[in-house]
Amino acid sequence: MEKKNIDWSNLGFGYQVTDKRFVANYKDGAWDDGVLTEDATITLTECAGVLQYAQTCFEGLKAYTTEDGRTVCFRPDLNASRMSDSCKRLEMPVFPEDKFVEAVKAVVKANEAYVPPYGSGATLYIRPYMFGSSAVIGVKPADEYQFRIFCTPVGPYFKGGAKPITIRVCDYDRAAPHGTGHIKAGLNYAMSLYQIVDAHEQGYDENMYLDAATRTYVEETGGANFIFITKDGKLVTPKSDSILPSITRRSLMVVAEKYLGMEVEHRQVRLDEIGEFAECGLCGTAAVISPVGKIVDHGKEICFPSGMDDMGPVTRKLYDTLTGIQMGRIEAPEGWIVEI
Ligand code: PLP
Ligand code: COI
Repeated sequence: MEKKNIDWSNLGFGYQVTDKRFVANYKDGAWDDGVLTEDATITLTECAGVLQYAQTCFEGLKAYTTEDGRTVCFRPDLNASRMSDSCKRLEMPVFPEDKFVEAVKAVVKANEAYVPPYGSGATLYIRPYMFGSSAVIGVKPADEYQFRIFCTPVGPYFKGGAKPITIRVCDYDRAAPHGTGHIKAGLNYAMSLYQIVDAHEQGYDENMYLDAATRTYVEETGGANFIFITKDGKLVTPKSDSILPSITRRSLMVVAEKYLGMEVEHRQVRLDEIGEFAECGLCGTAAVISPVGKIVDHGKEICFPSGMDDMGPVTRKLYDTLTGIQMGRIEAPEGWIVEI
């Protein structure tokens, strides 16, 4: 397979069009079989449910080239099941989970020339999404939907790759108790744009959101879950019904316990205890593990002992083990790696 002529090592986290994408339509109460198409555009009625009432959700996963040259993706079944949860909460028809995984594989296969080579630092980001495509003007679900998957080669989500980032505690909330924070609804991201633009203008890389009810517990950022490492080497990750159940975070909990012999705590994390942790990071498909060096809470700086130059030593071990599994250097737990 001849790869495209792309400067893989200098890719940022951006979109570039690739050769084929998957499209399936839901009409009269059923999904069609779906096809791969070269057409990267969408034509919609001006009154489509997605345009009027933001009836849309999405997923994100990656494909990798392994050390021995295979193309694989990581736990796509969990993306399929999380997308089902998103669809149910948004009154959208579930795309069958087995067909979701098959369509992911078909899209990667059809764009294999864009899967970055092993060791390049880049990966193929895969974006499944669904939206209400028929006209709605009263507030109600659409009757028709489109499910699509495209892919695009990407580099690190944060400029600087593995350099520690700085985060601020945000005064706005991301998700309400009993709201939609636990699903991947487009609306959760639309309402975070004001805050992220402001954070960047103020010199921060990301926002830390707190629980909306009491503003005392750590939730997540706009696009990743938090991980913390205690001074005695435990992994602590925030637990809340209003954060997205990150597949990376769930995988890291297994990696920490089963591969690295660490203790793992998944529990509520108070804002006023984070200064006691030795290391902090963000985890997600796009973020992988991005180390956090500093968190600023209204002028008060919380600087982690791991500093602003490098990933902390425990975060590094987690990172190396997780990416080792994803790139085929380390044996994966049963079912985690799906070959294309
Ligand atoms: N939290 C939010 C809000 C996200 O958008 C994402 C990205 O998908 C994550 C966490 C990380 O989830 P995952 O590890 O499944 O990519
Ligand atoms: C992902 O990590 O896949 C996401 O969807 C996060 C987004 C901020 C890019």
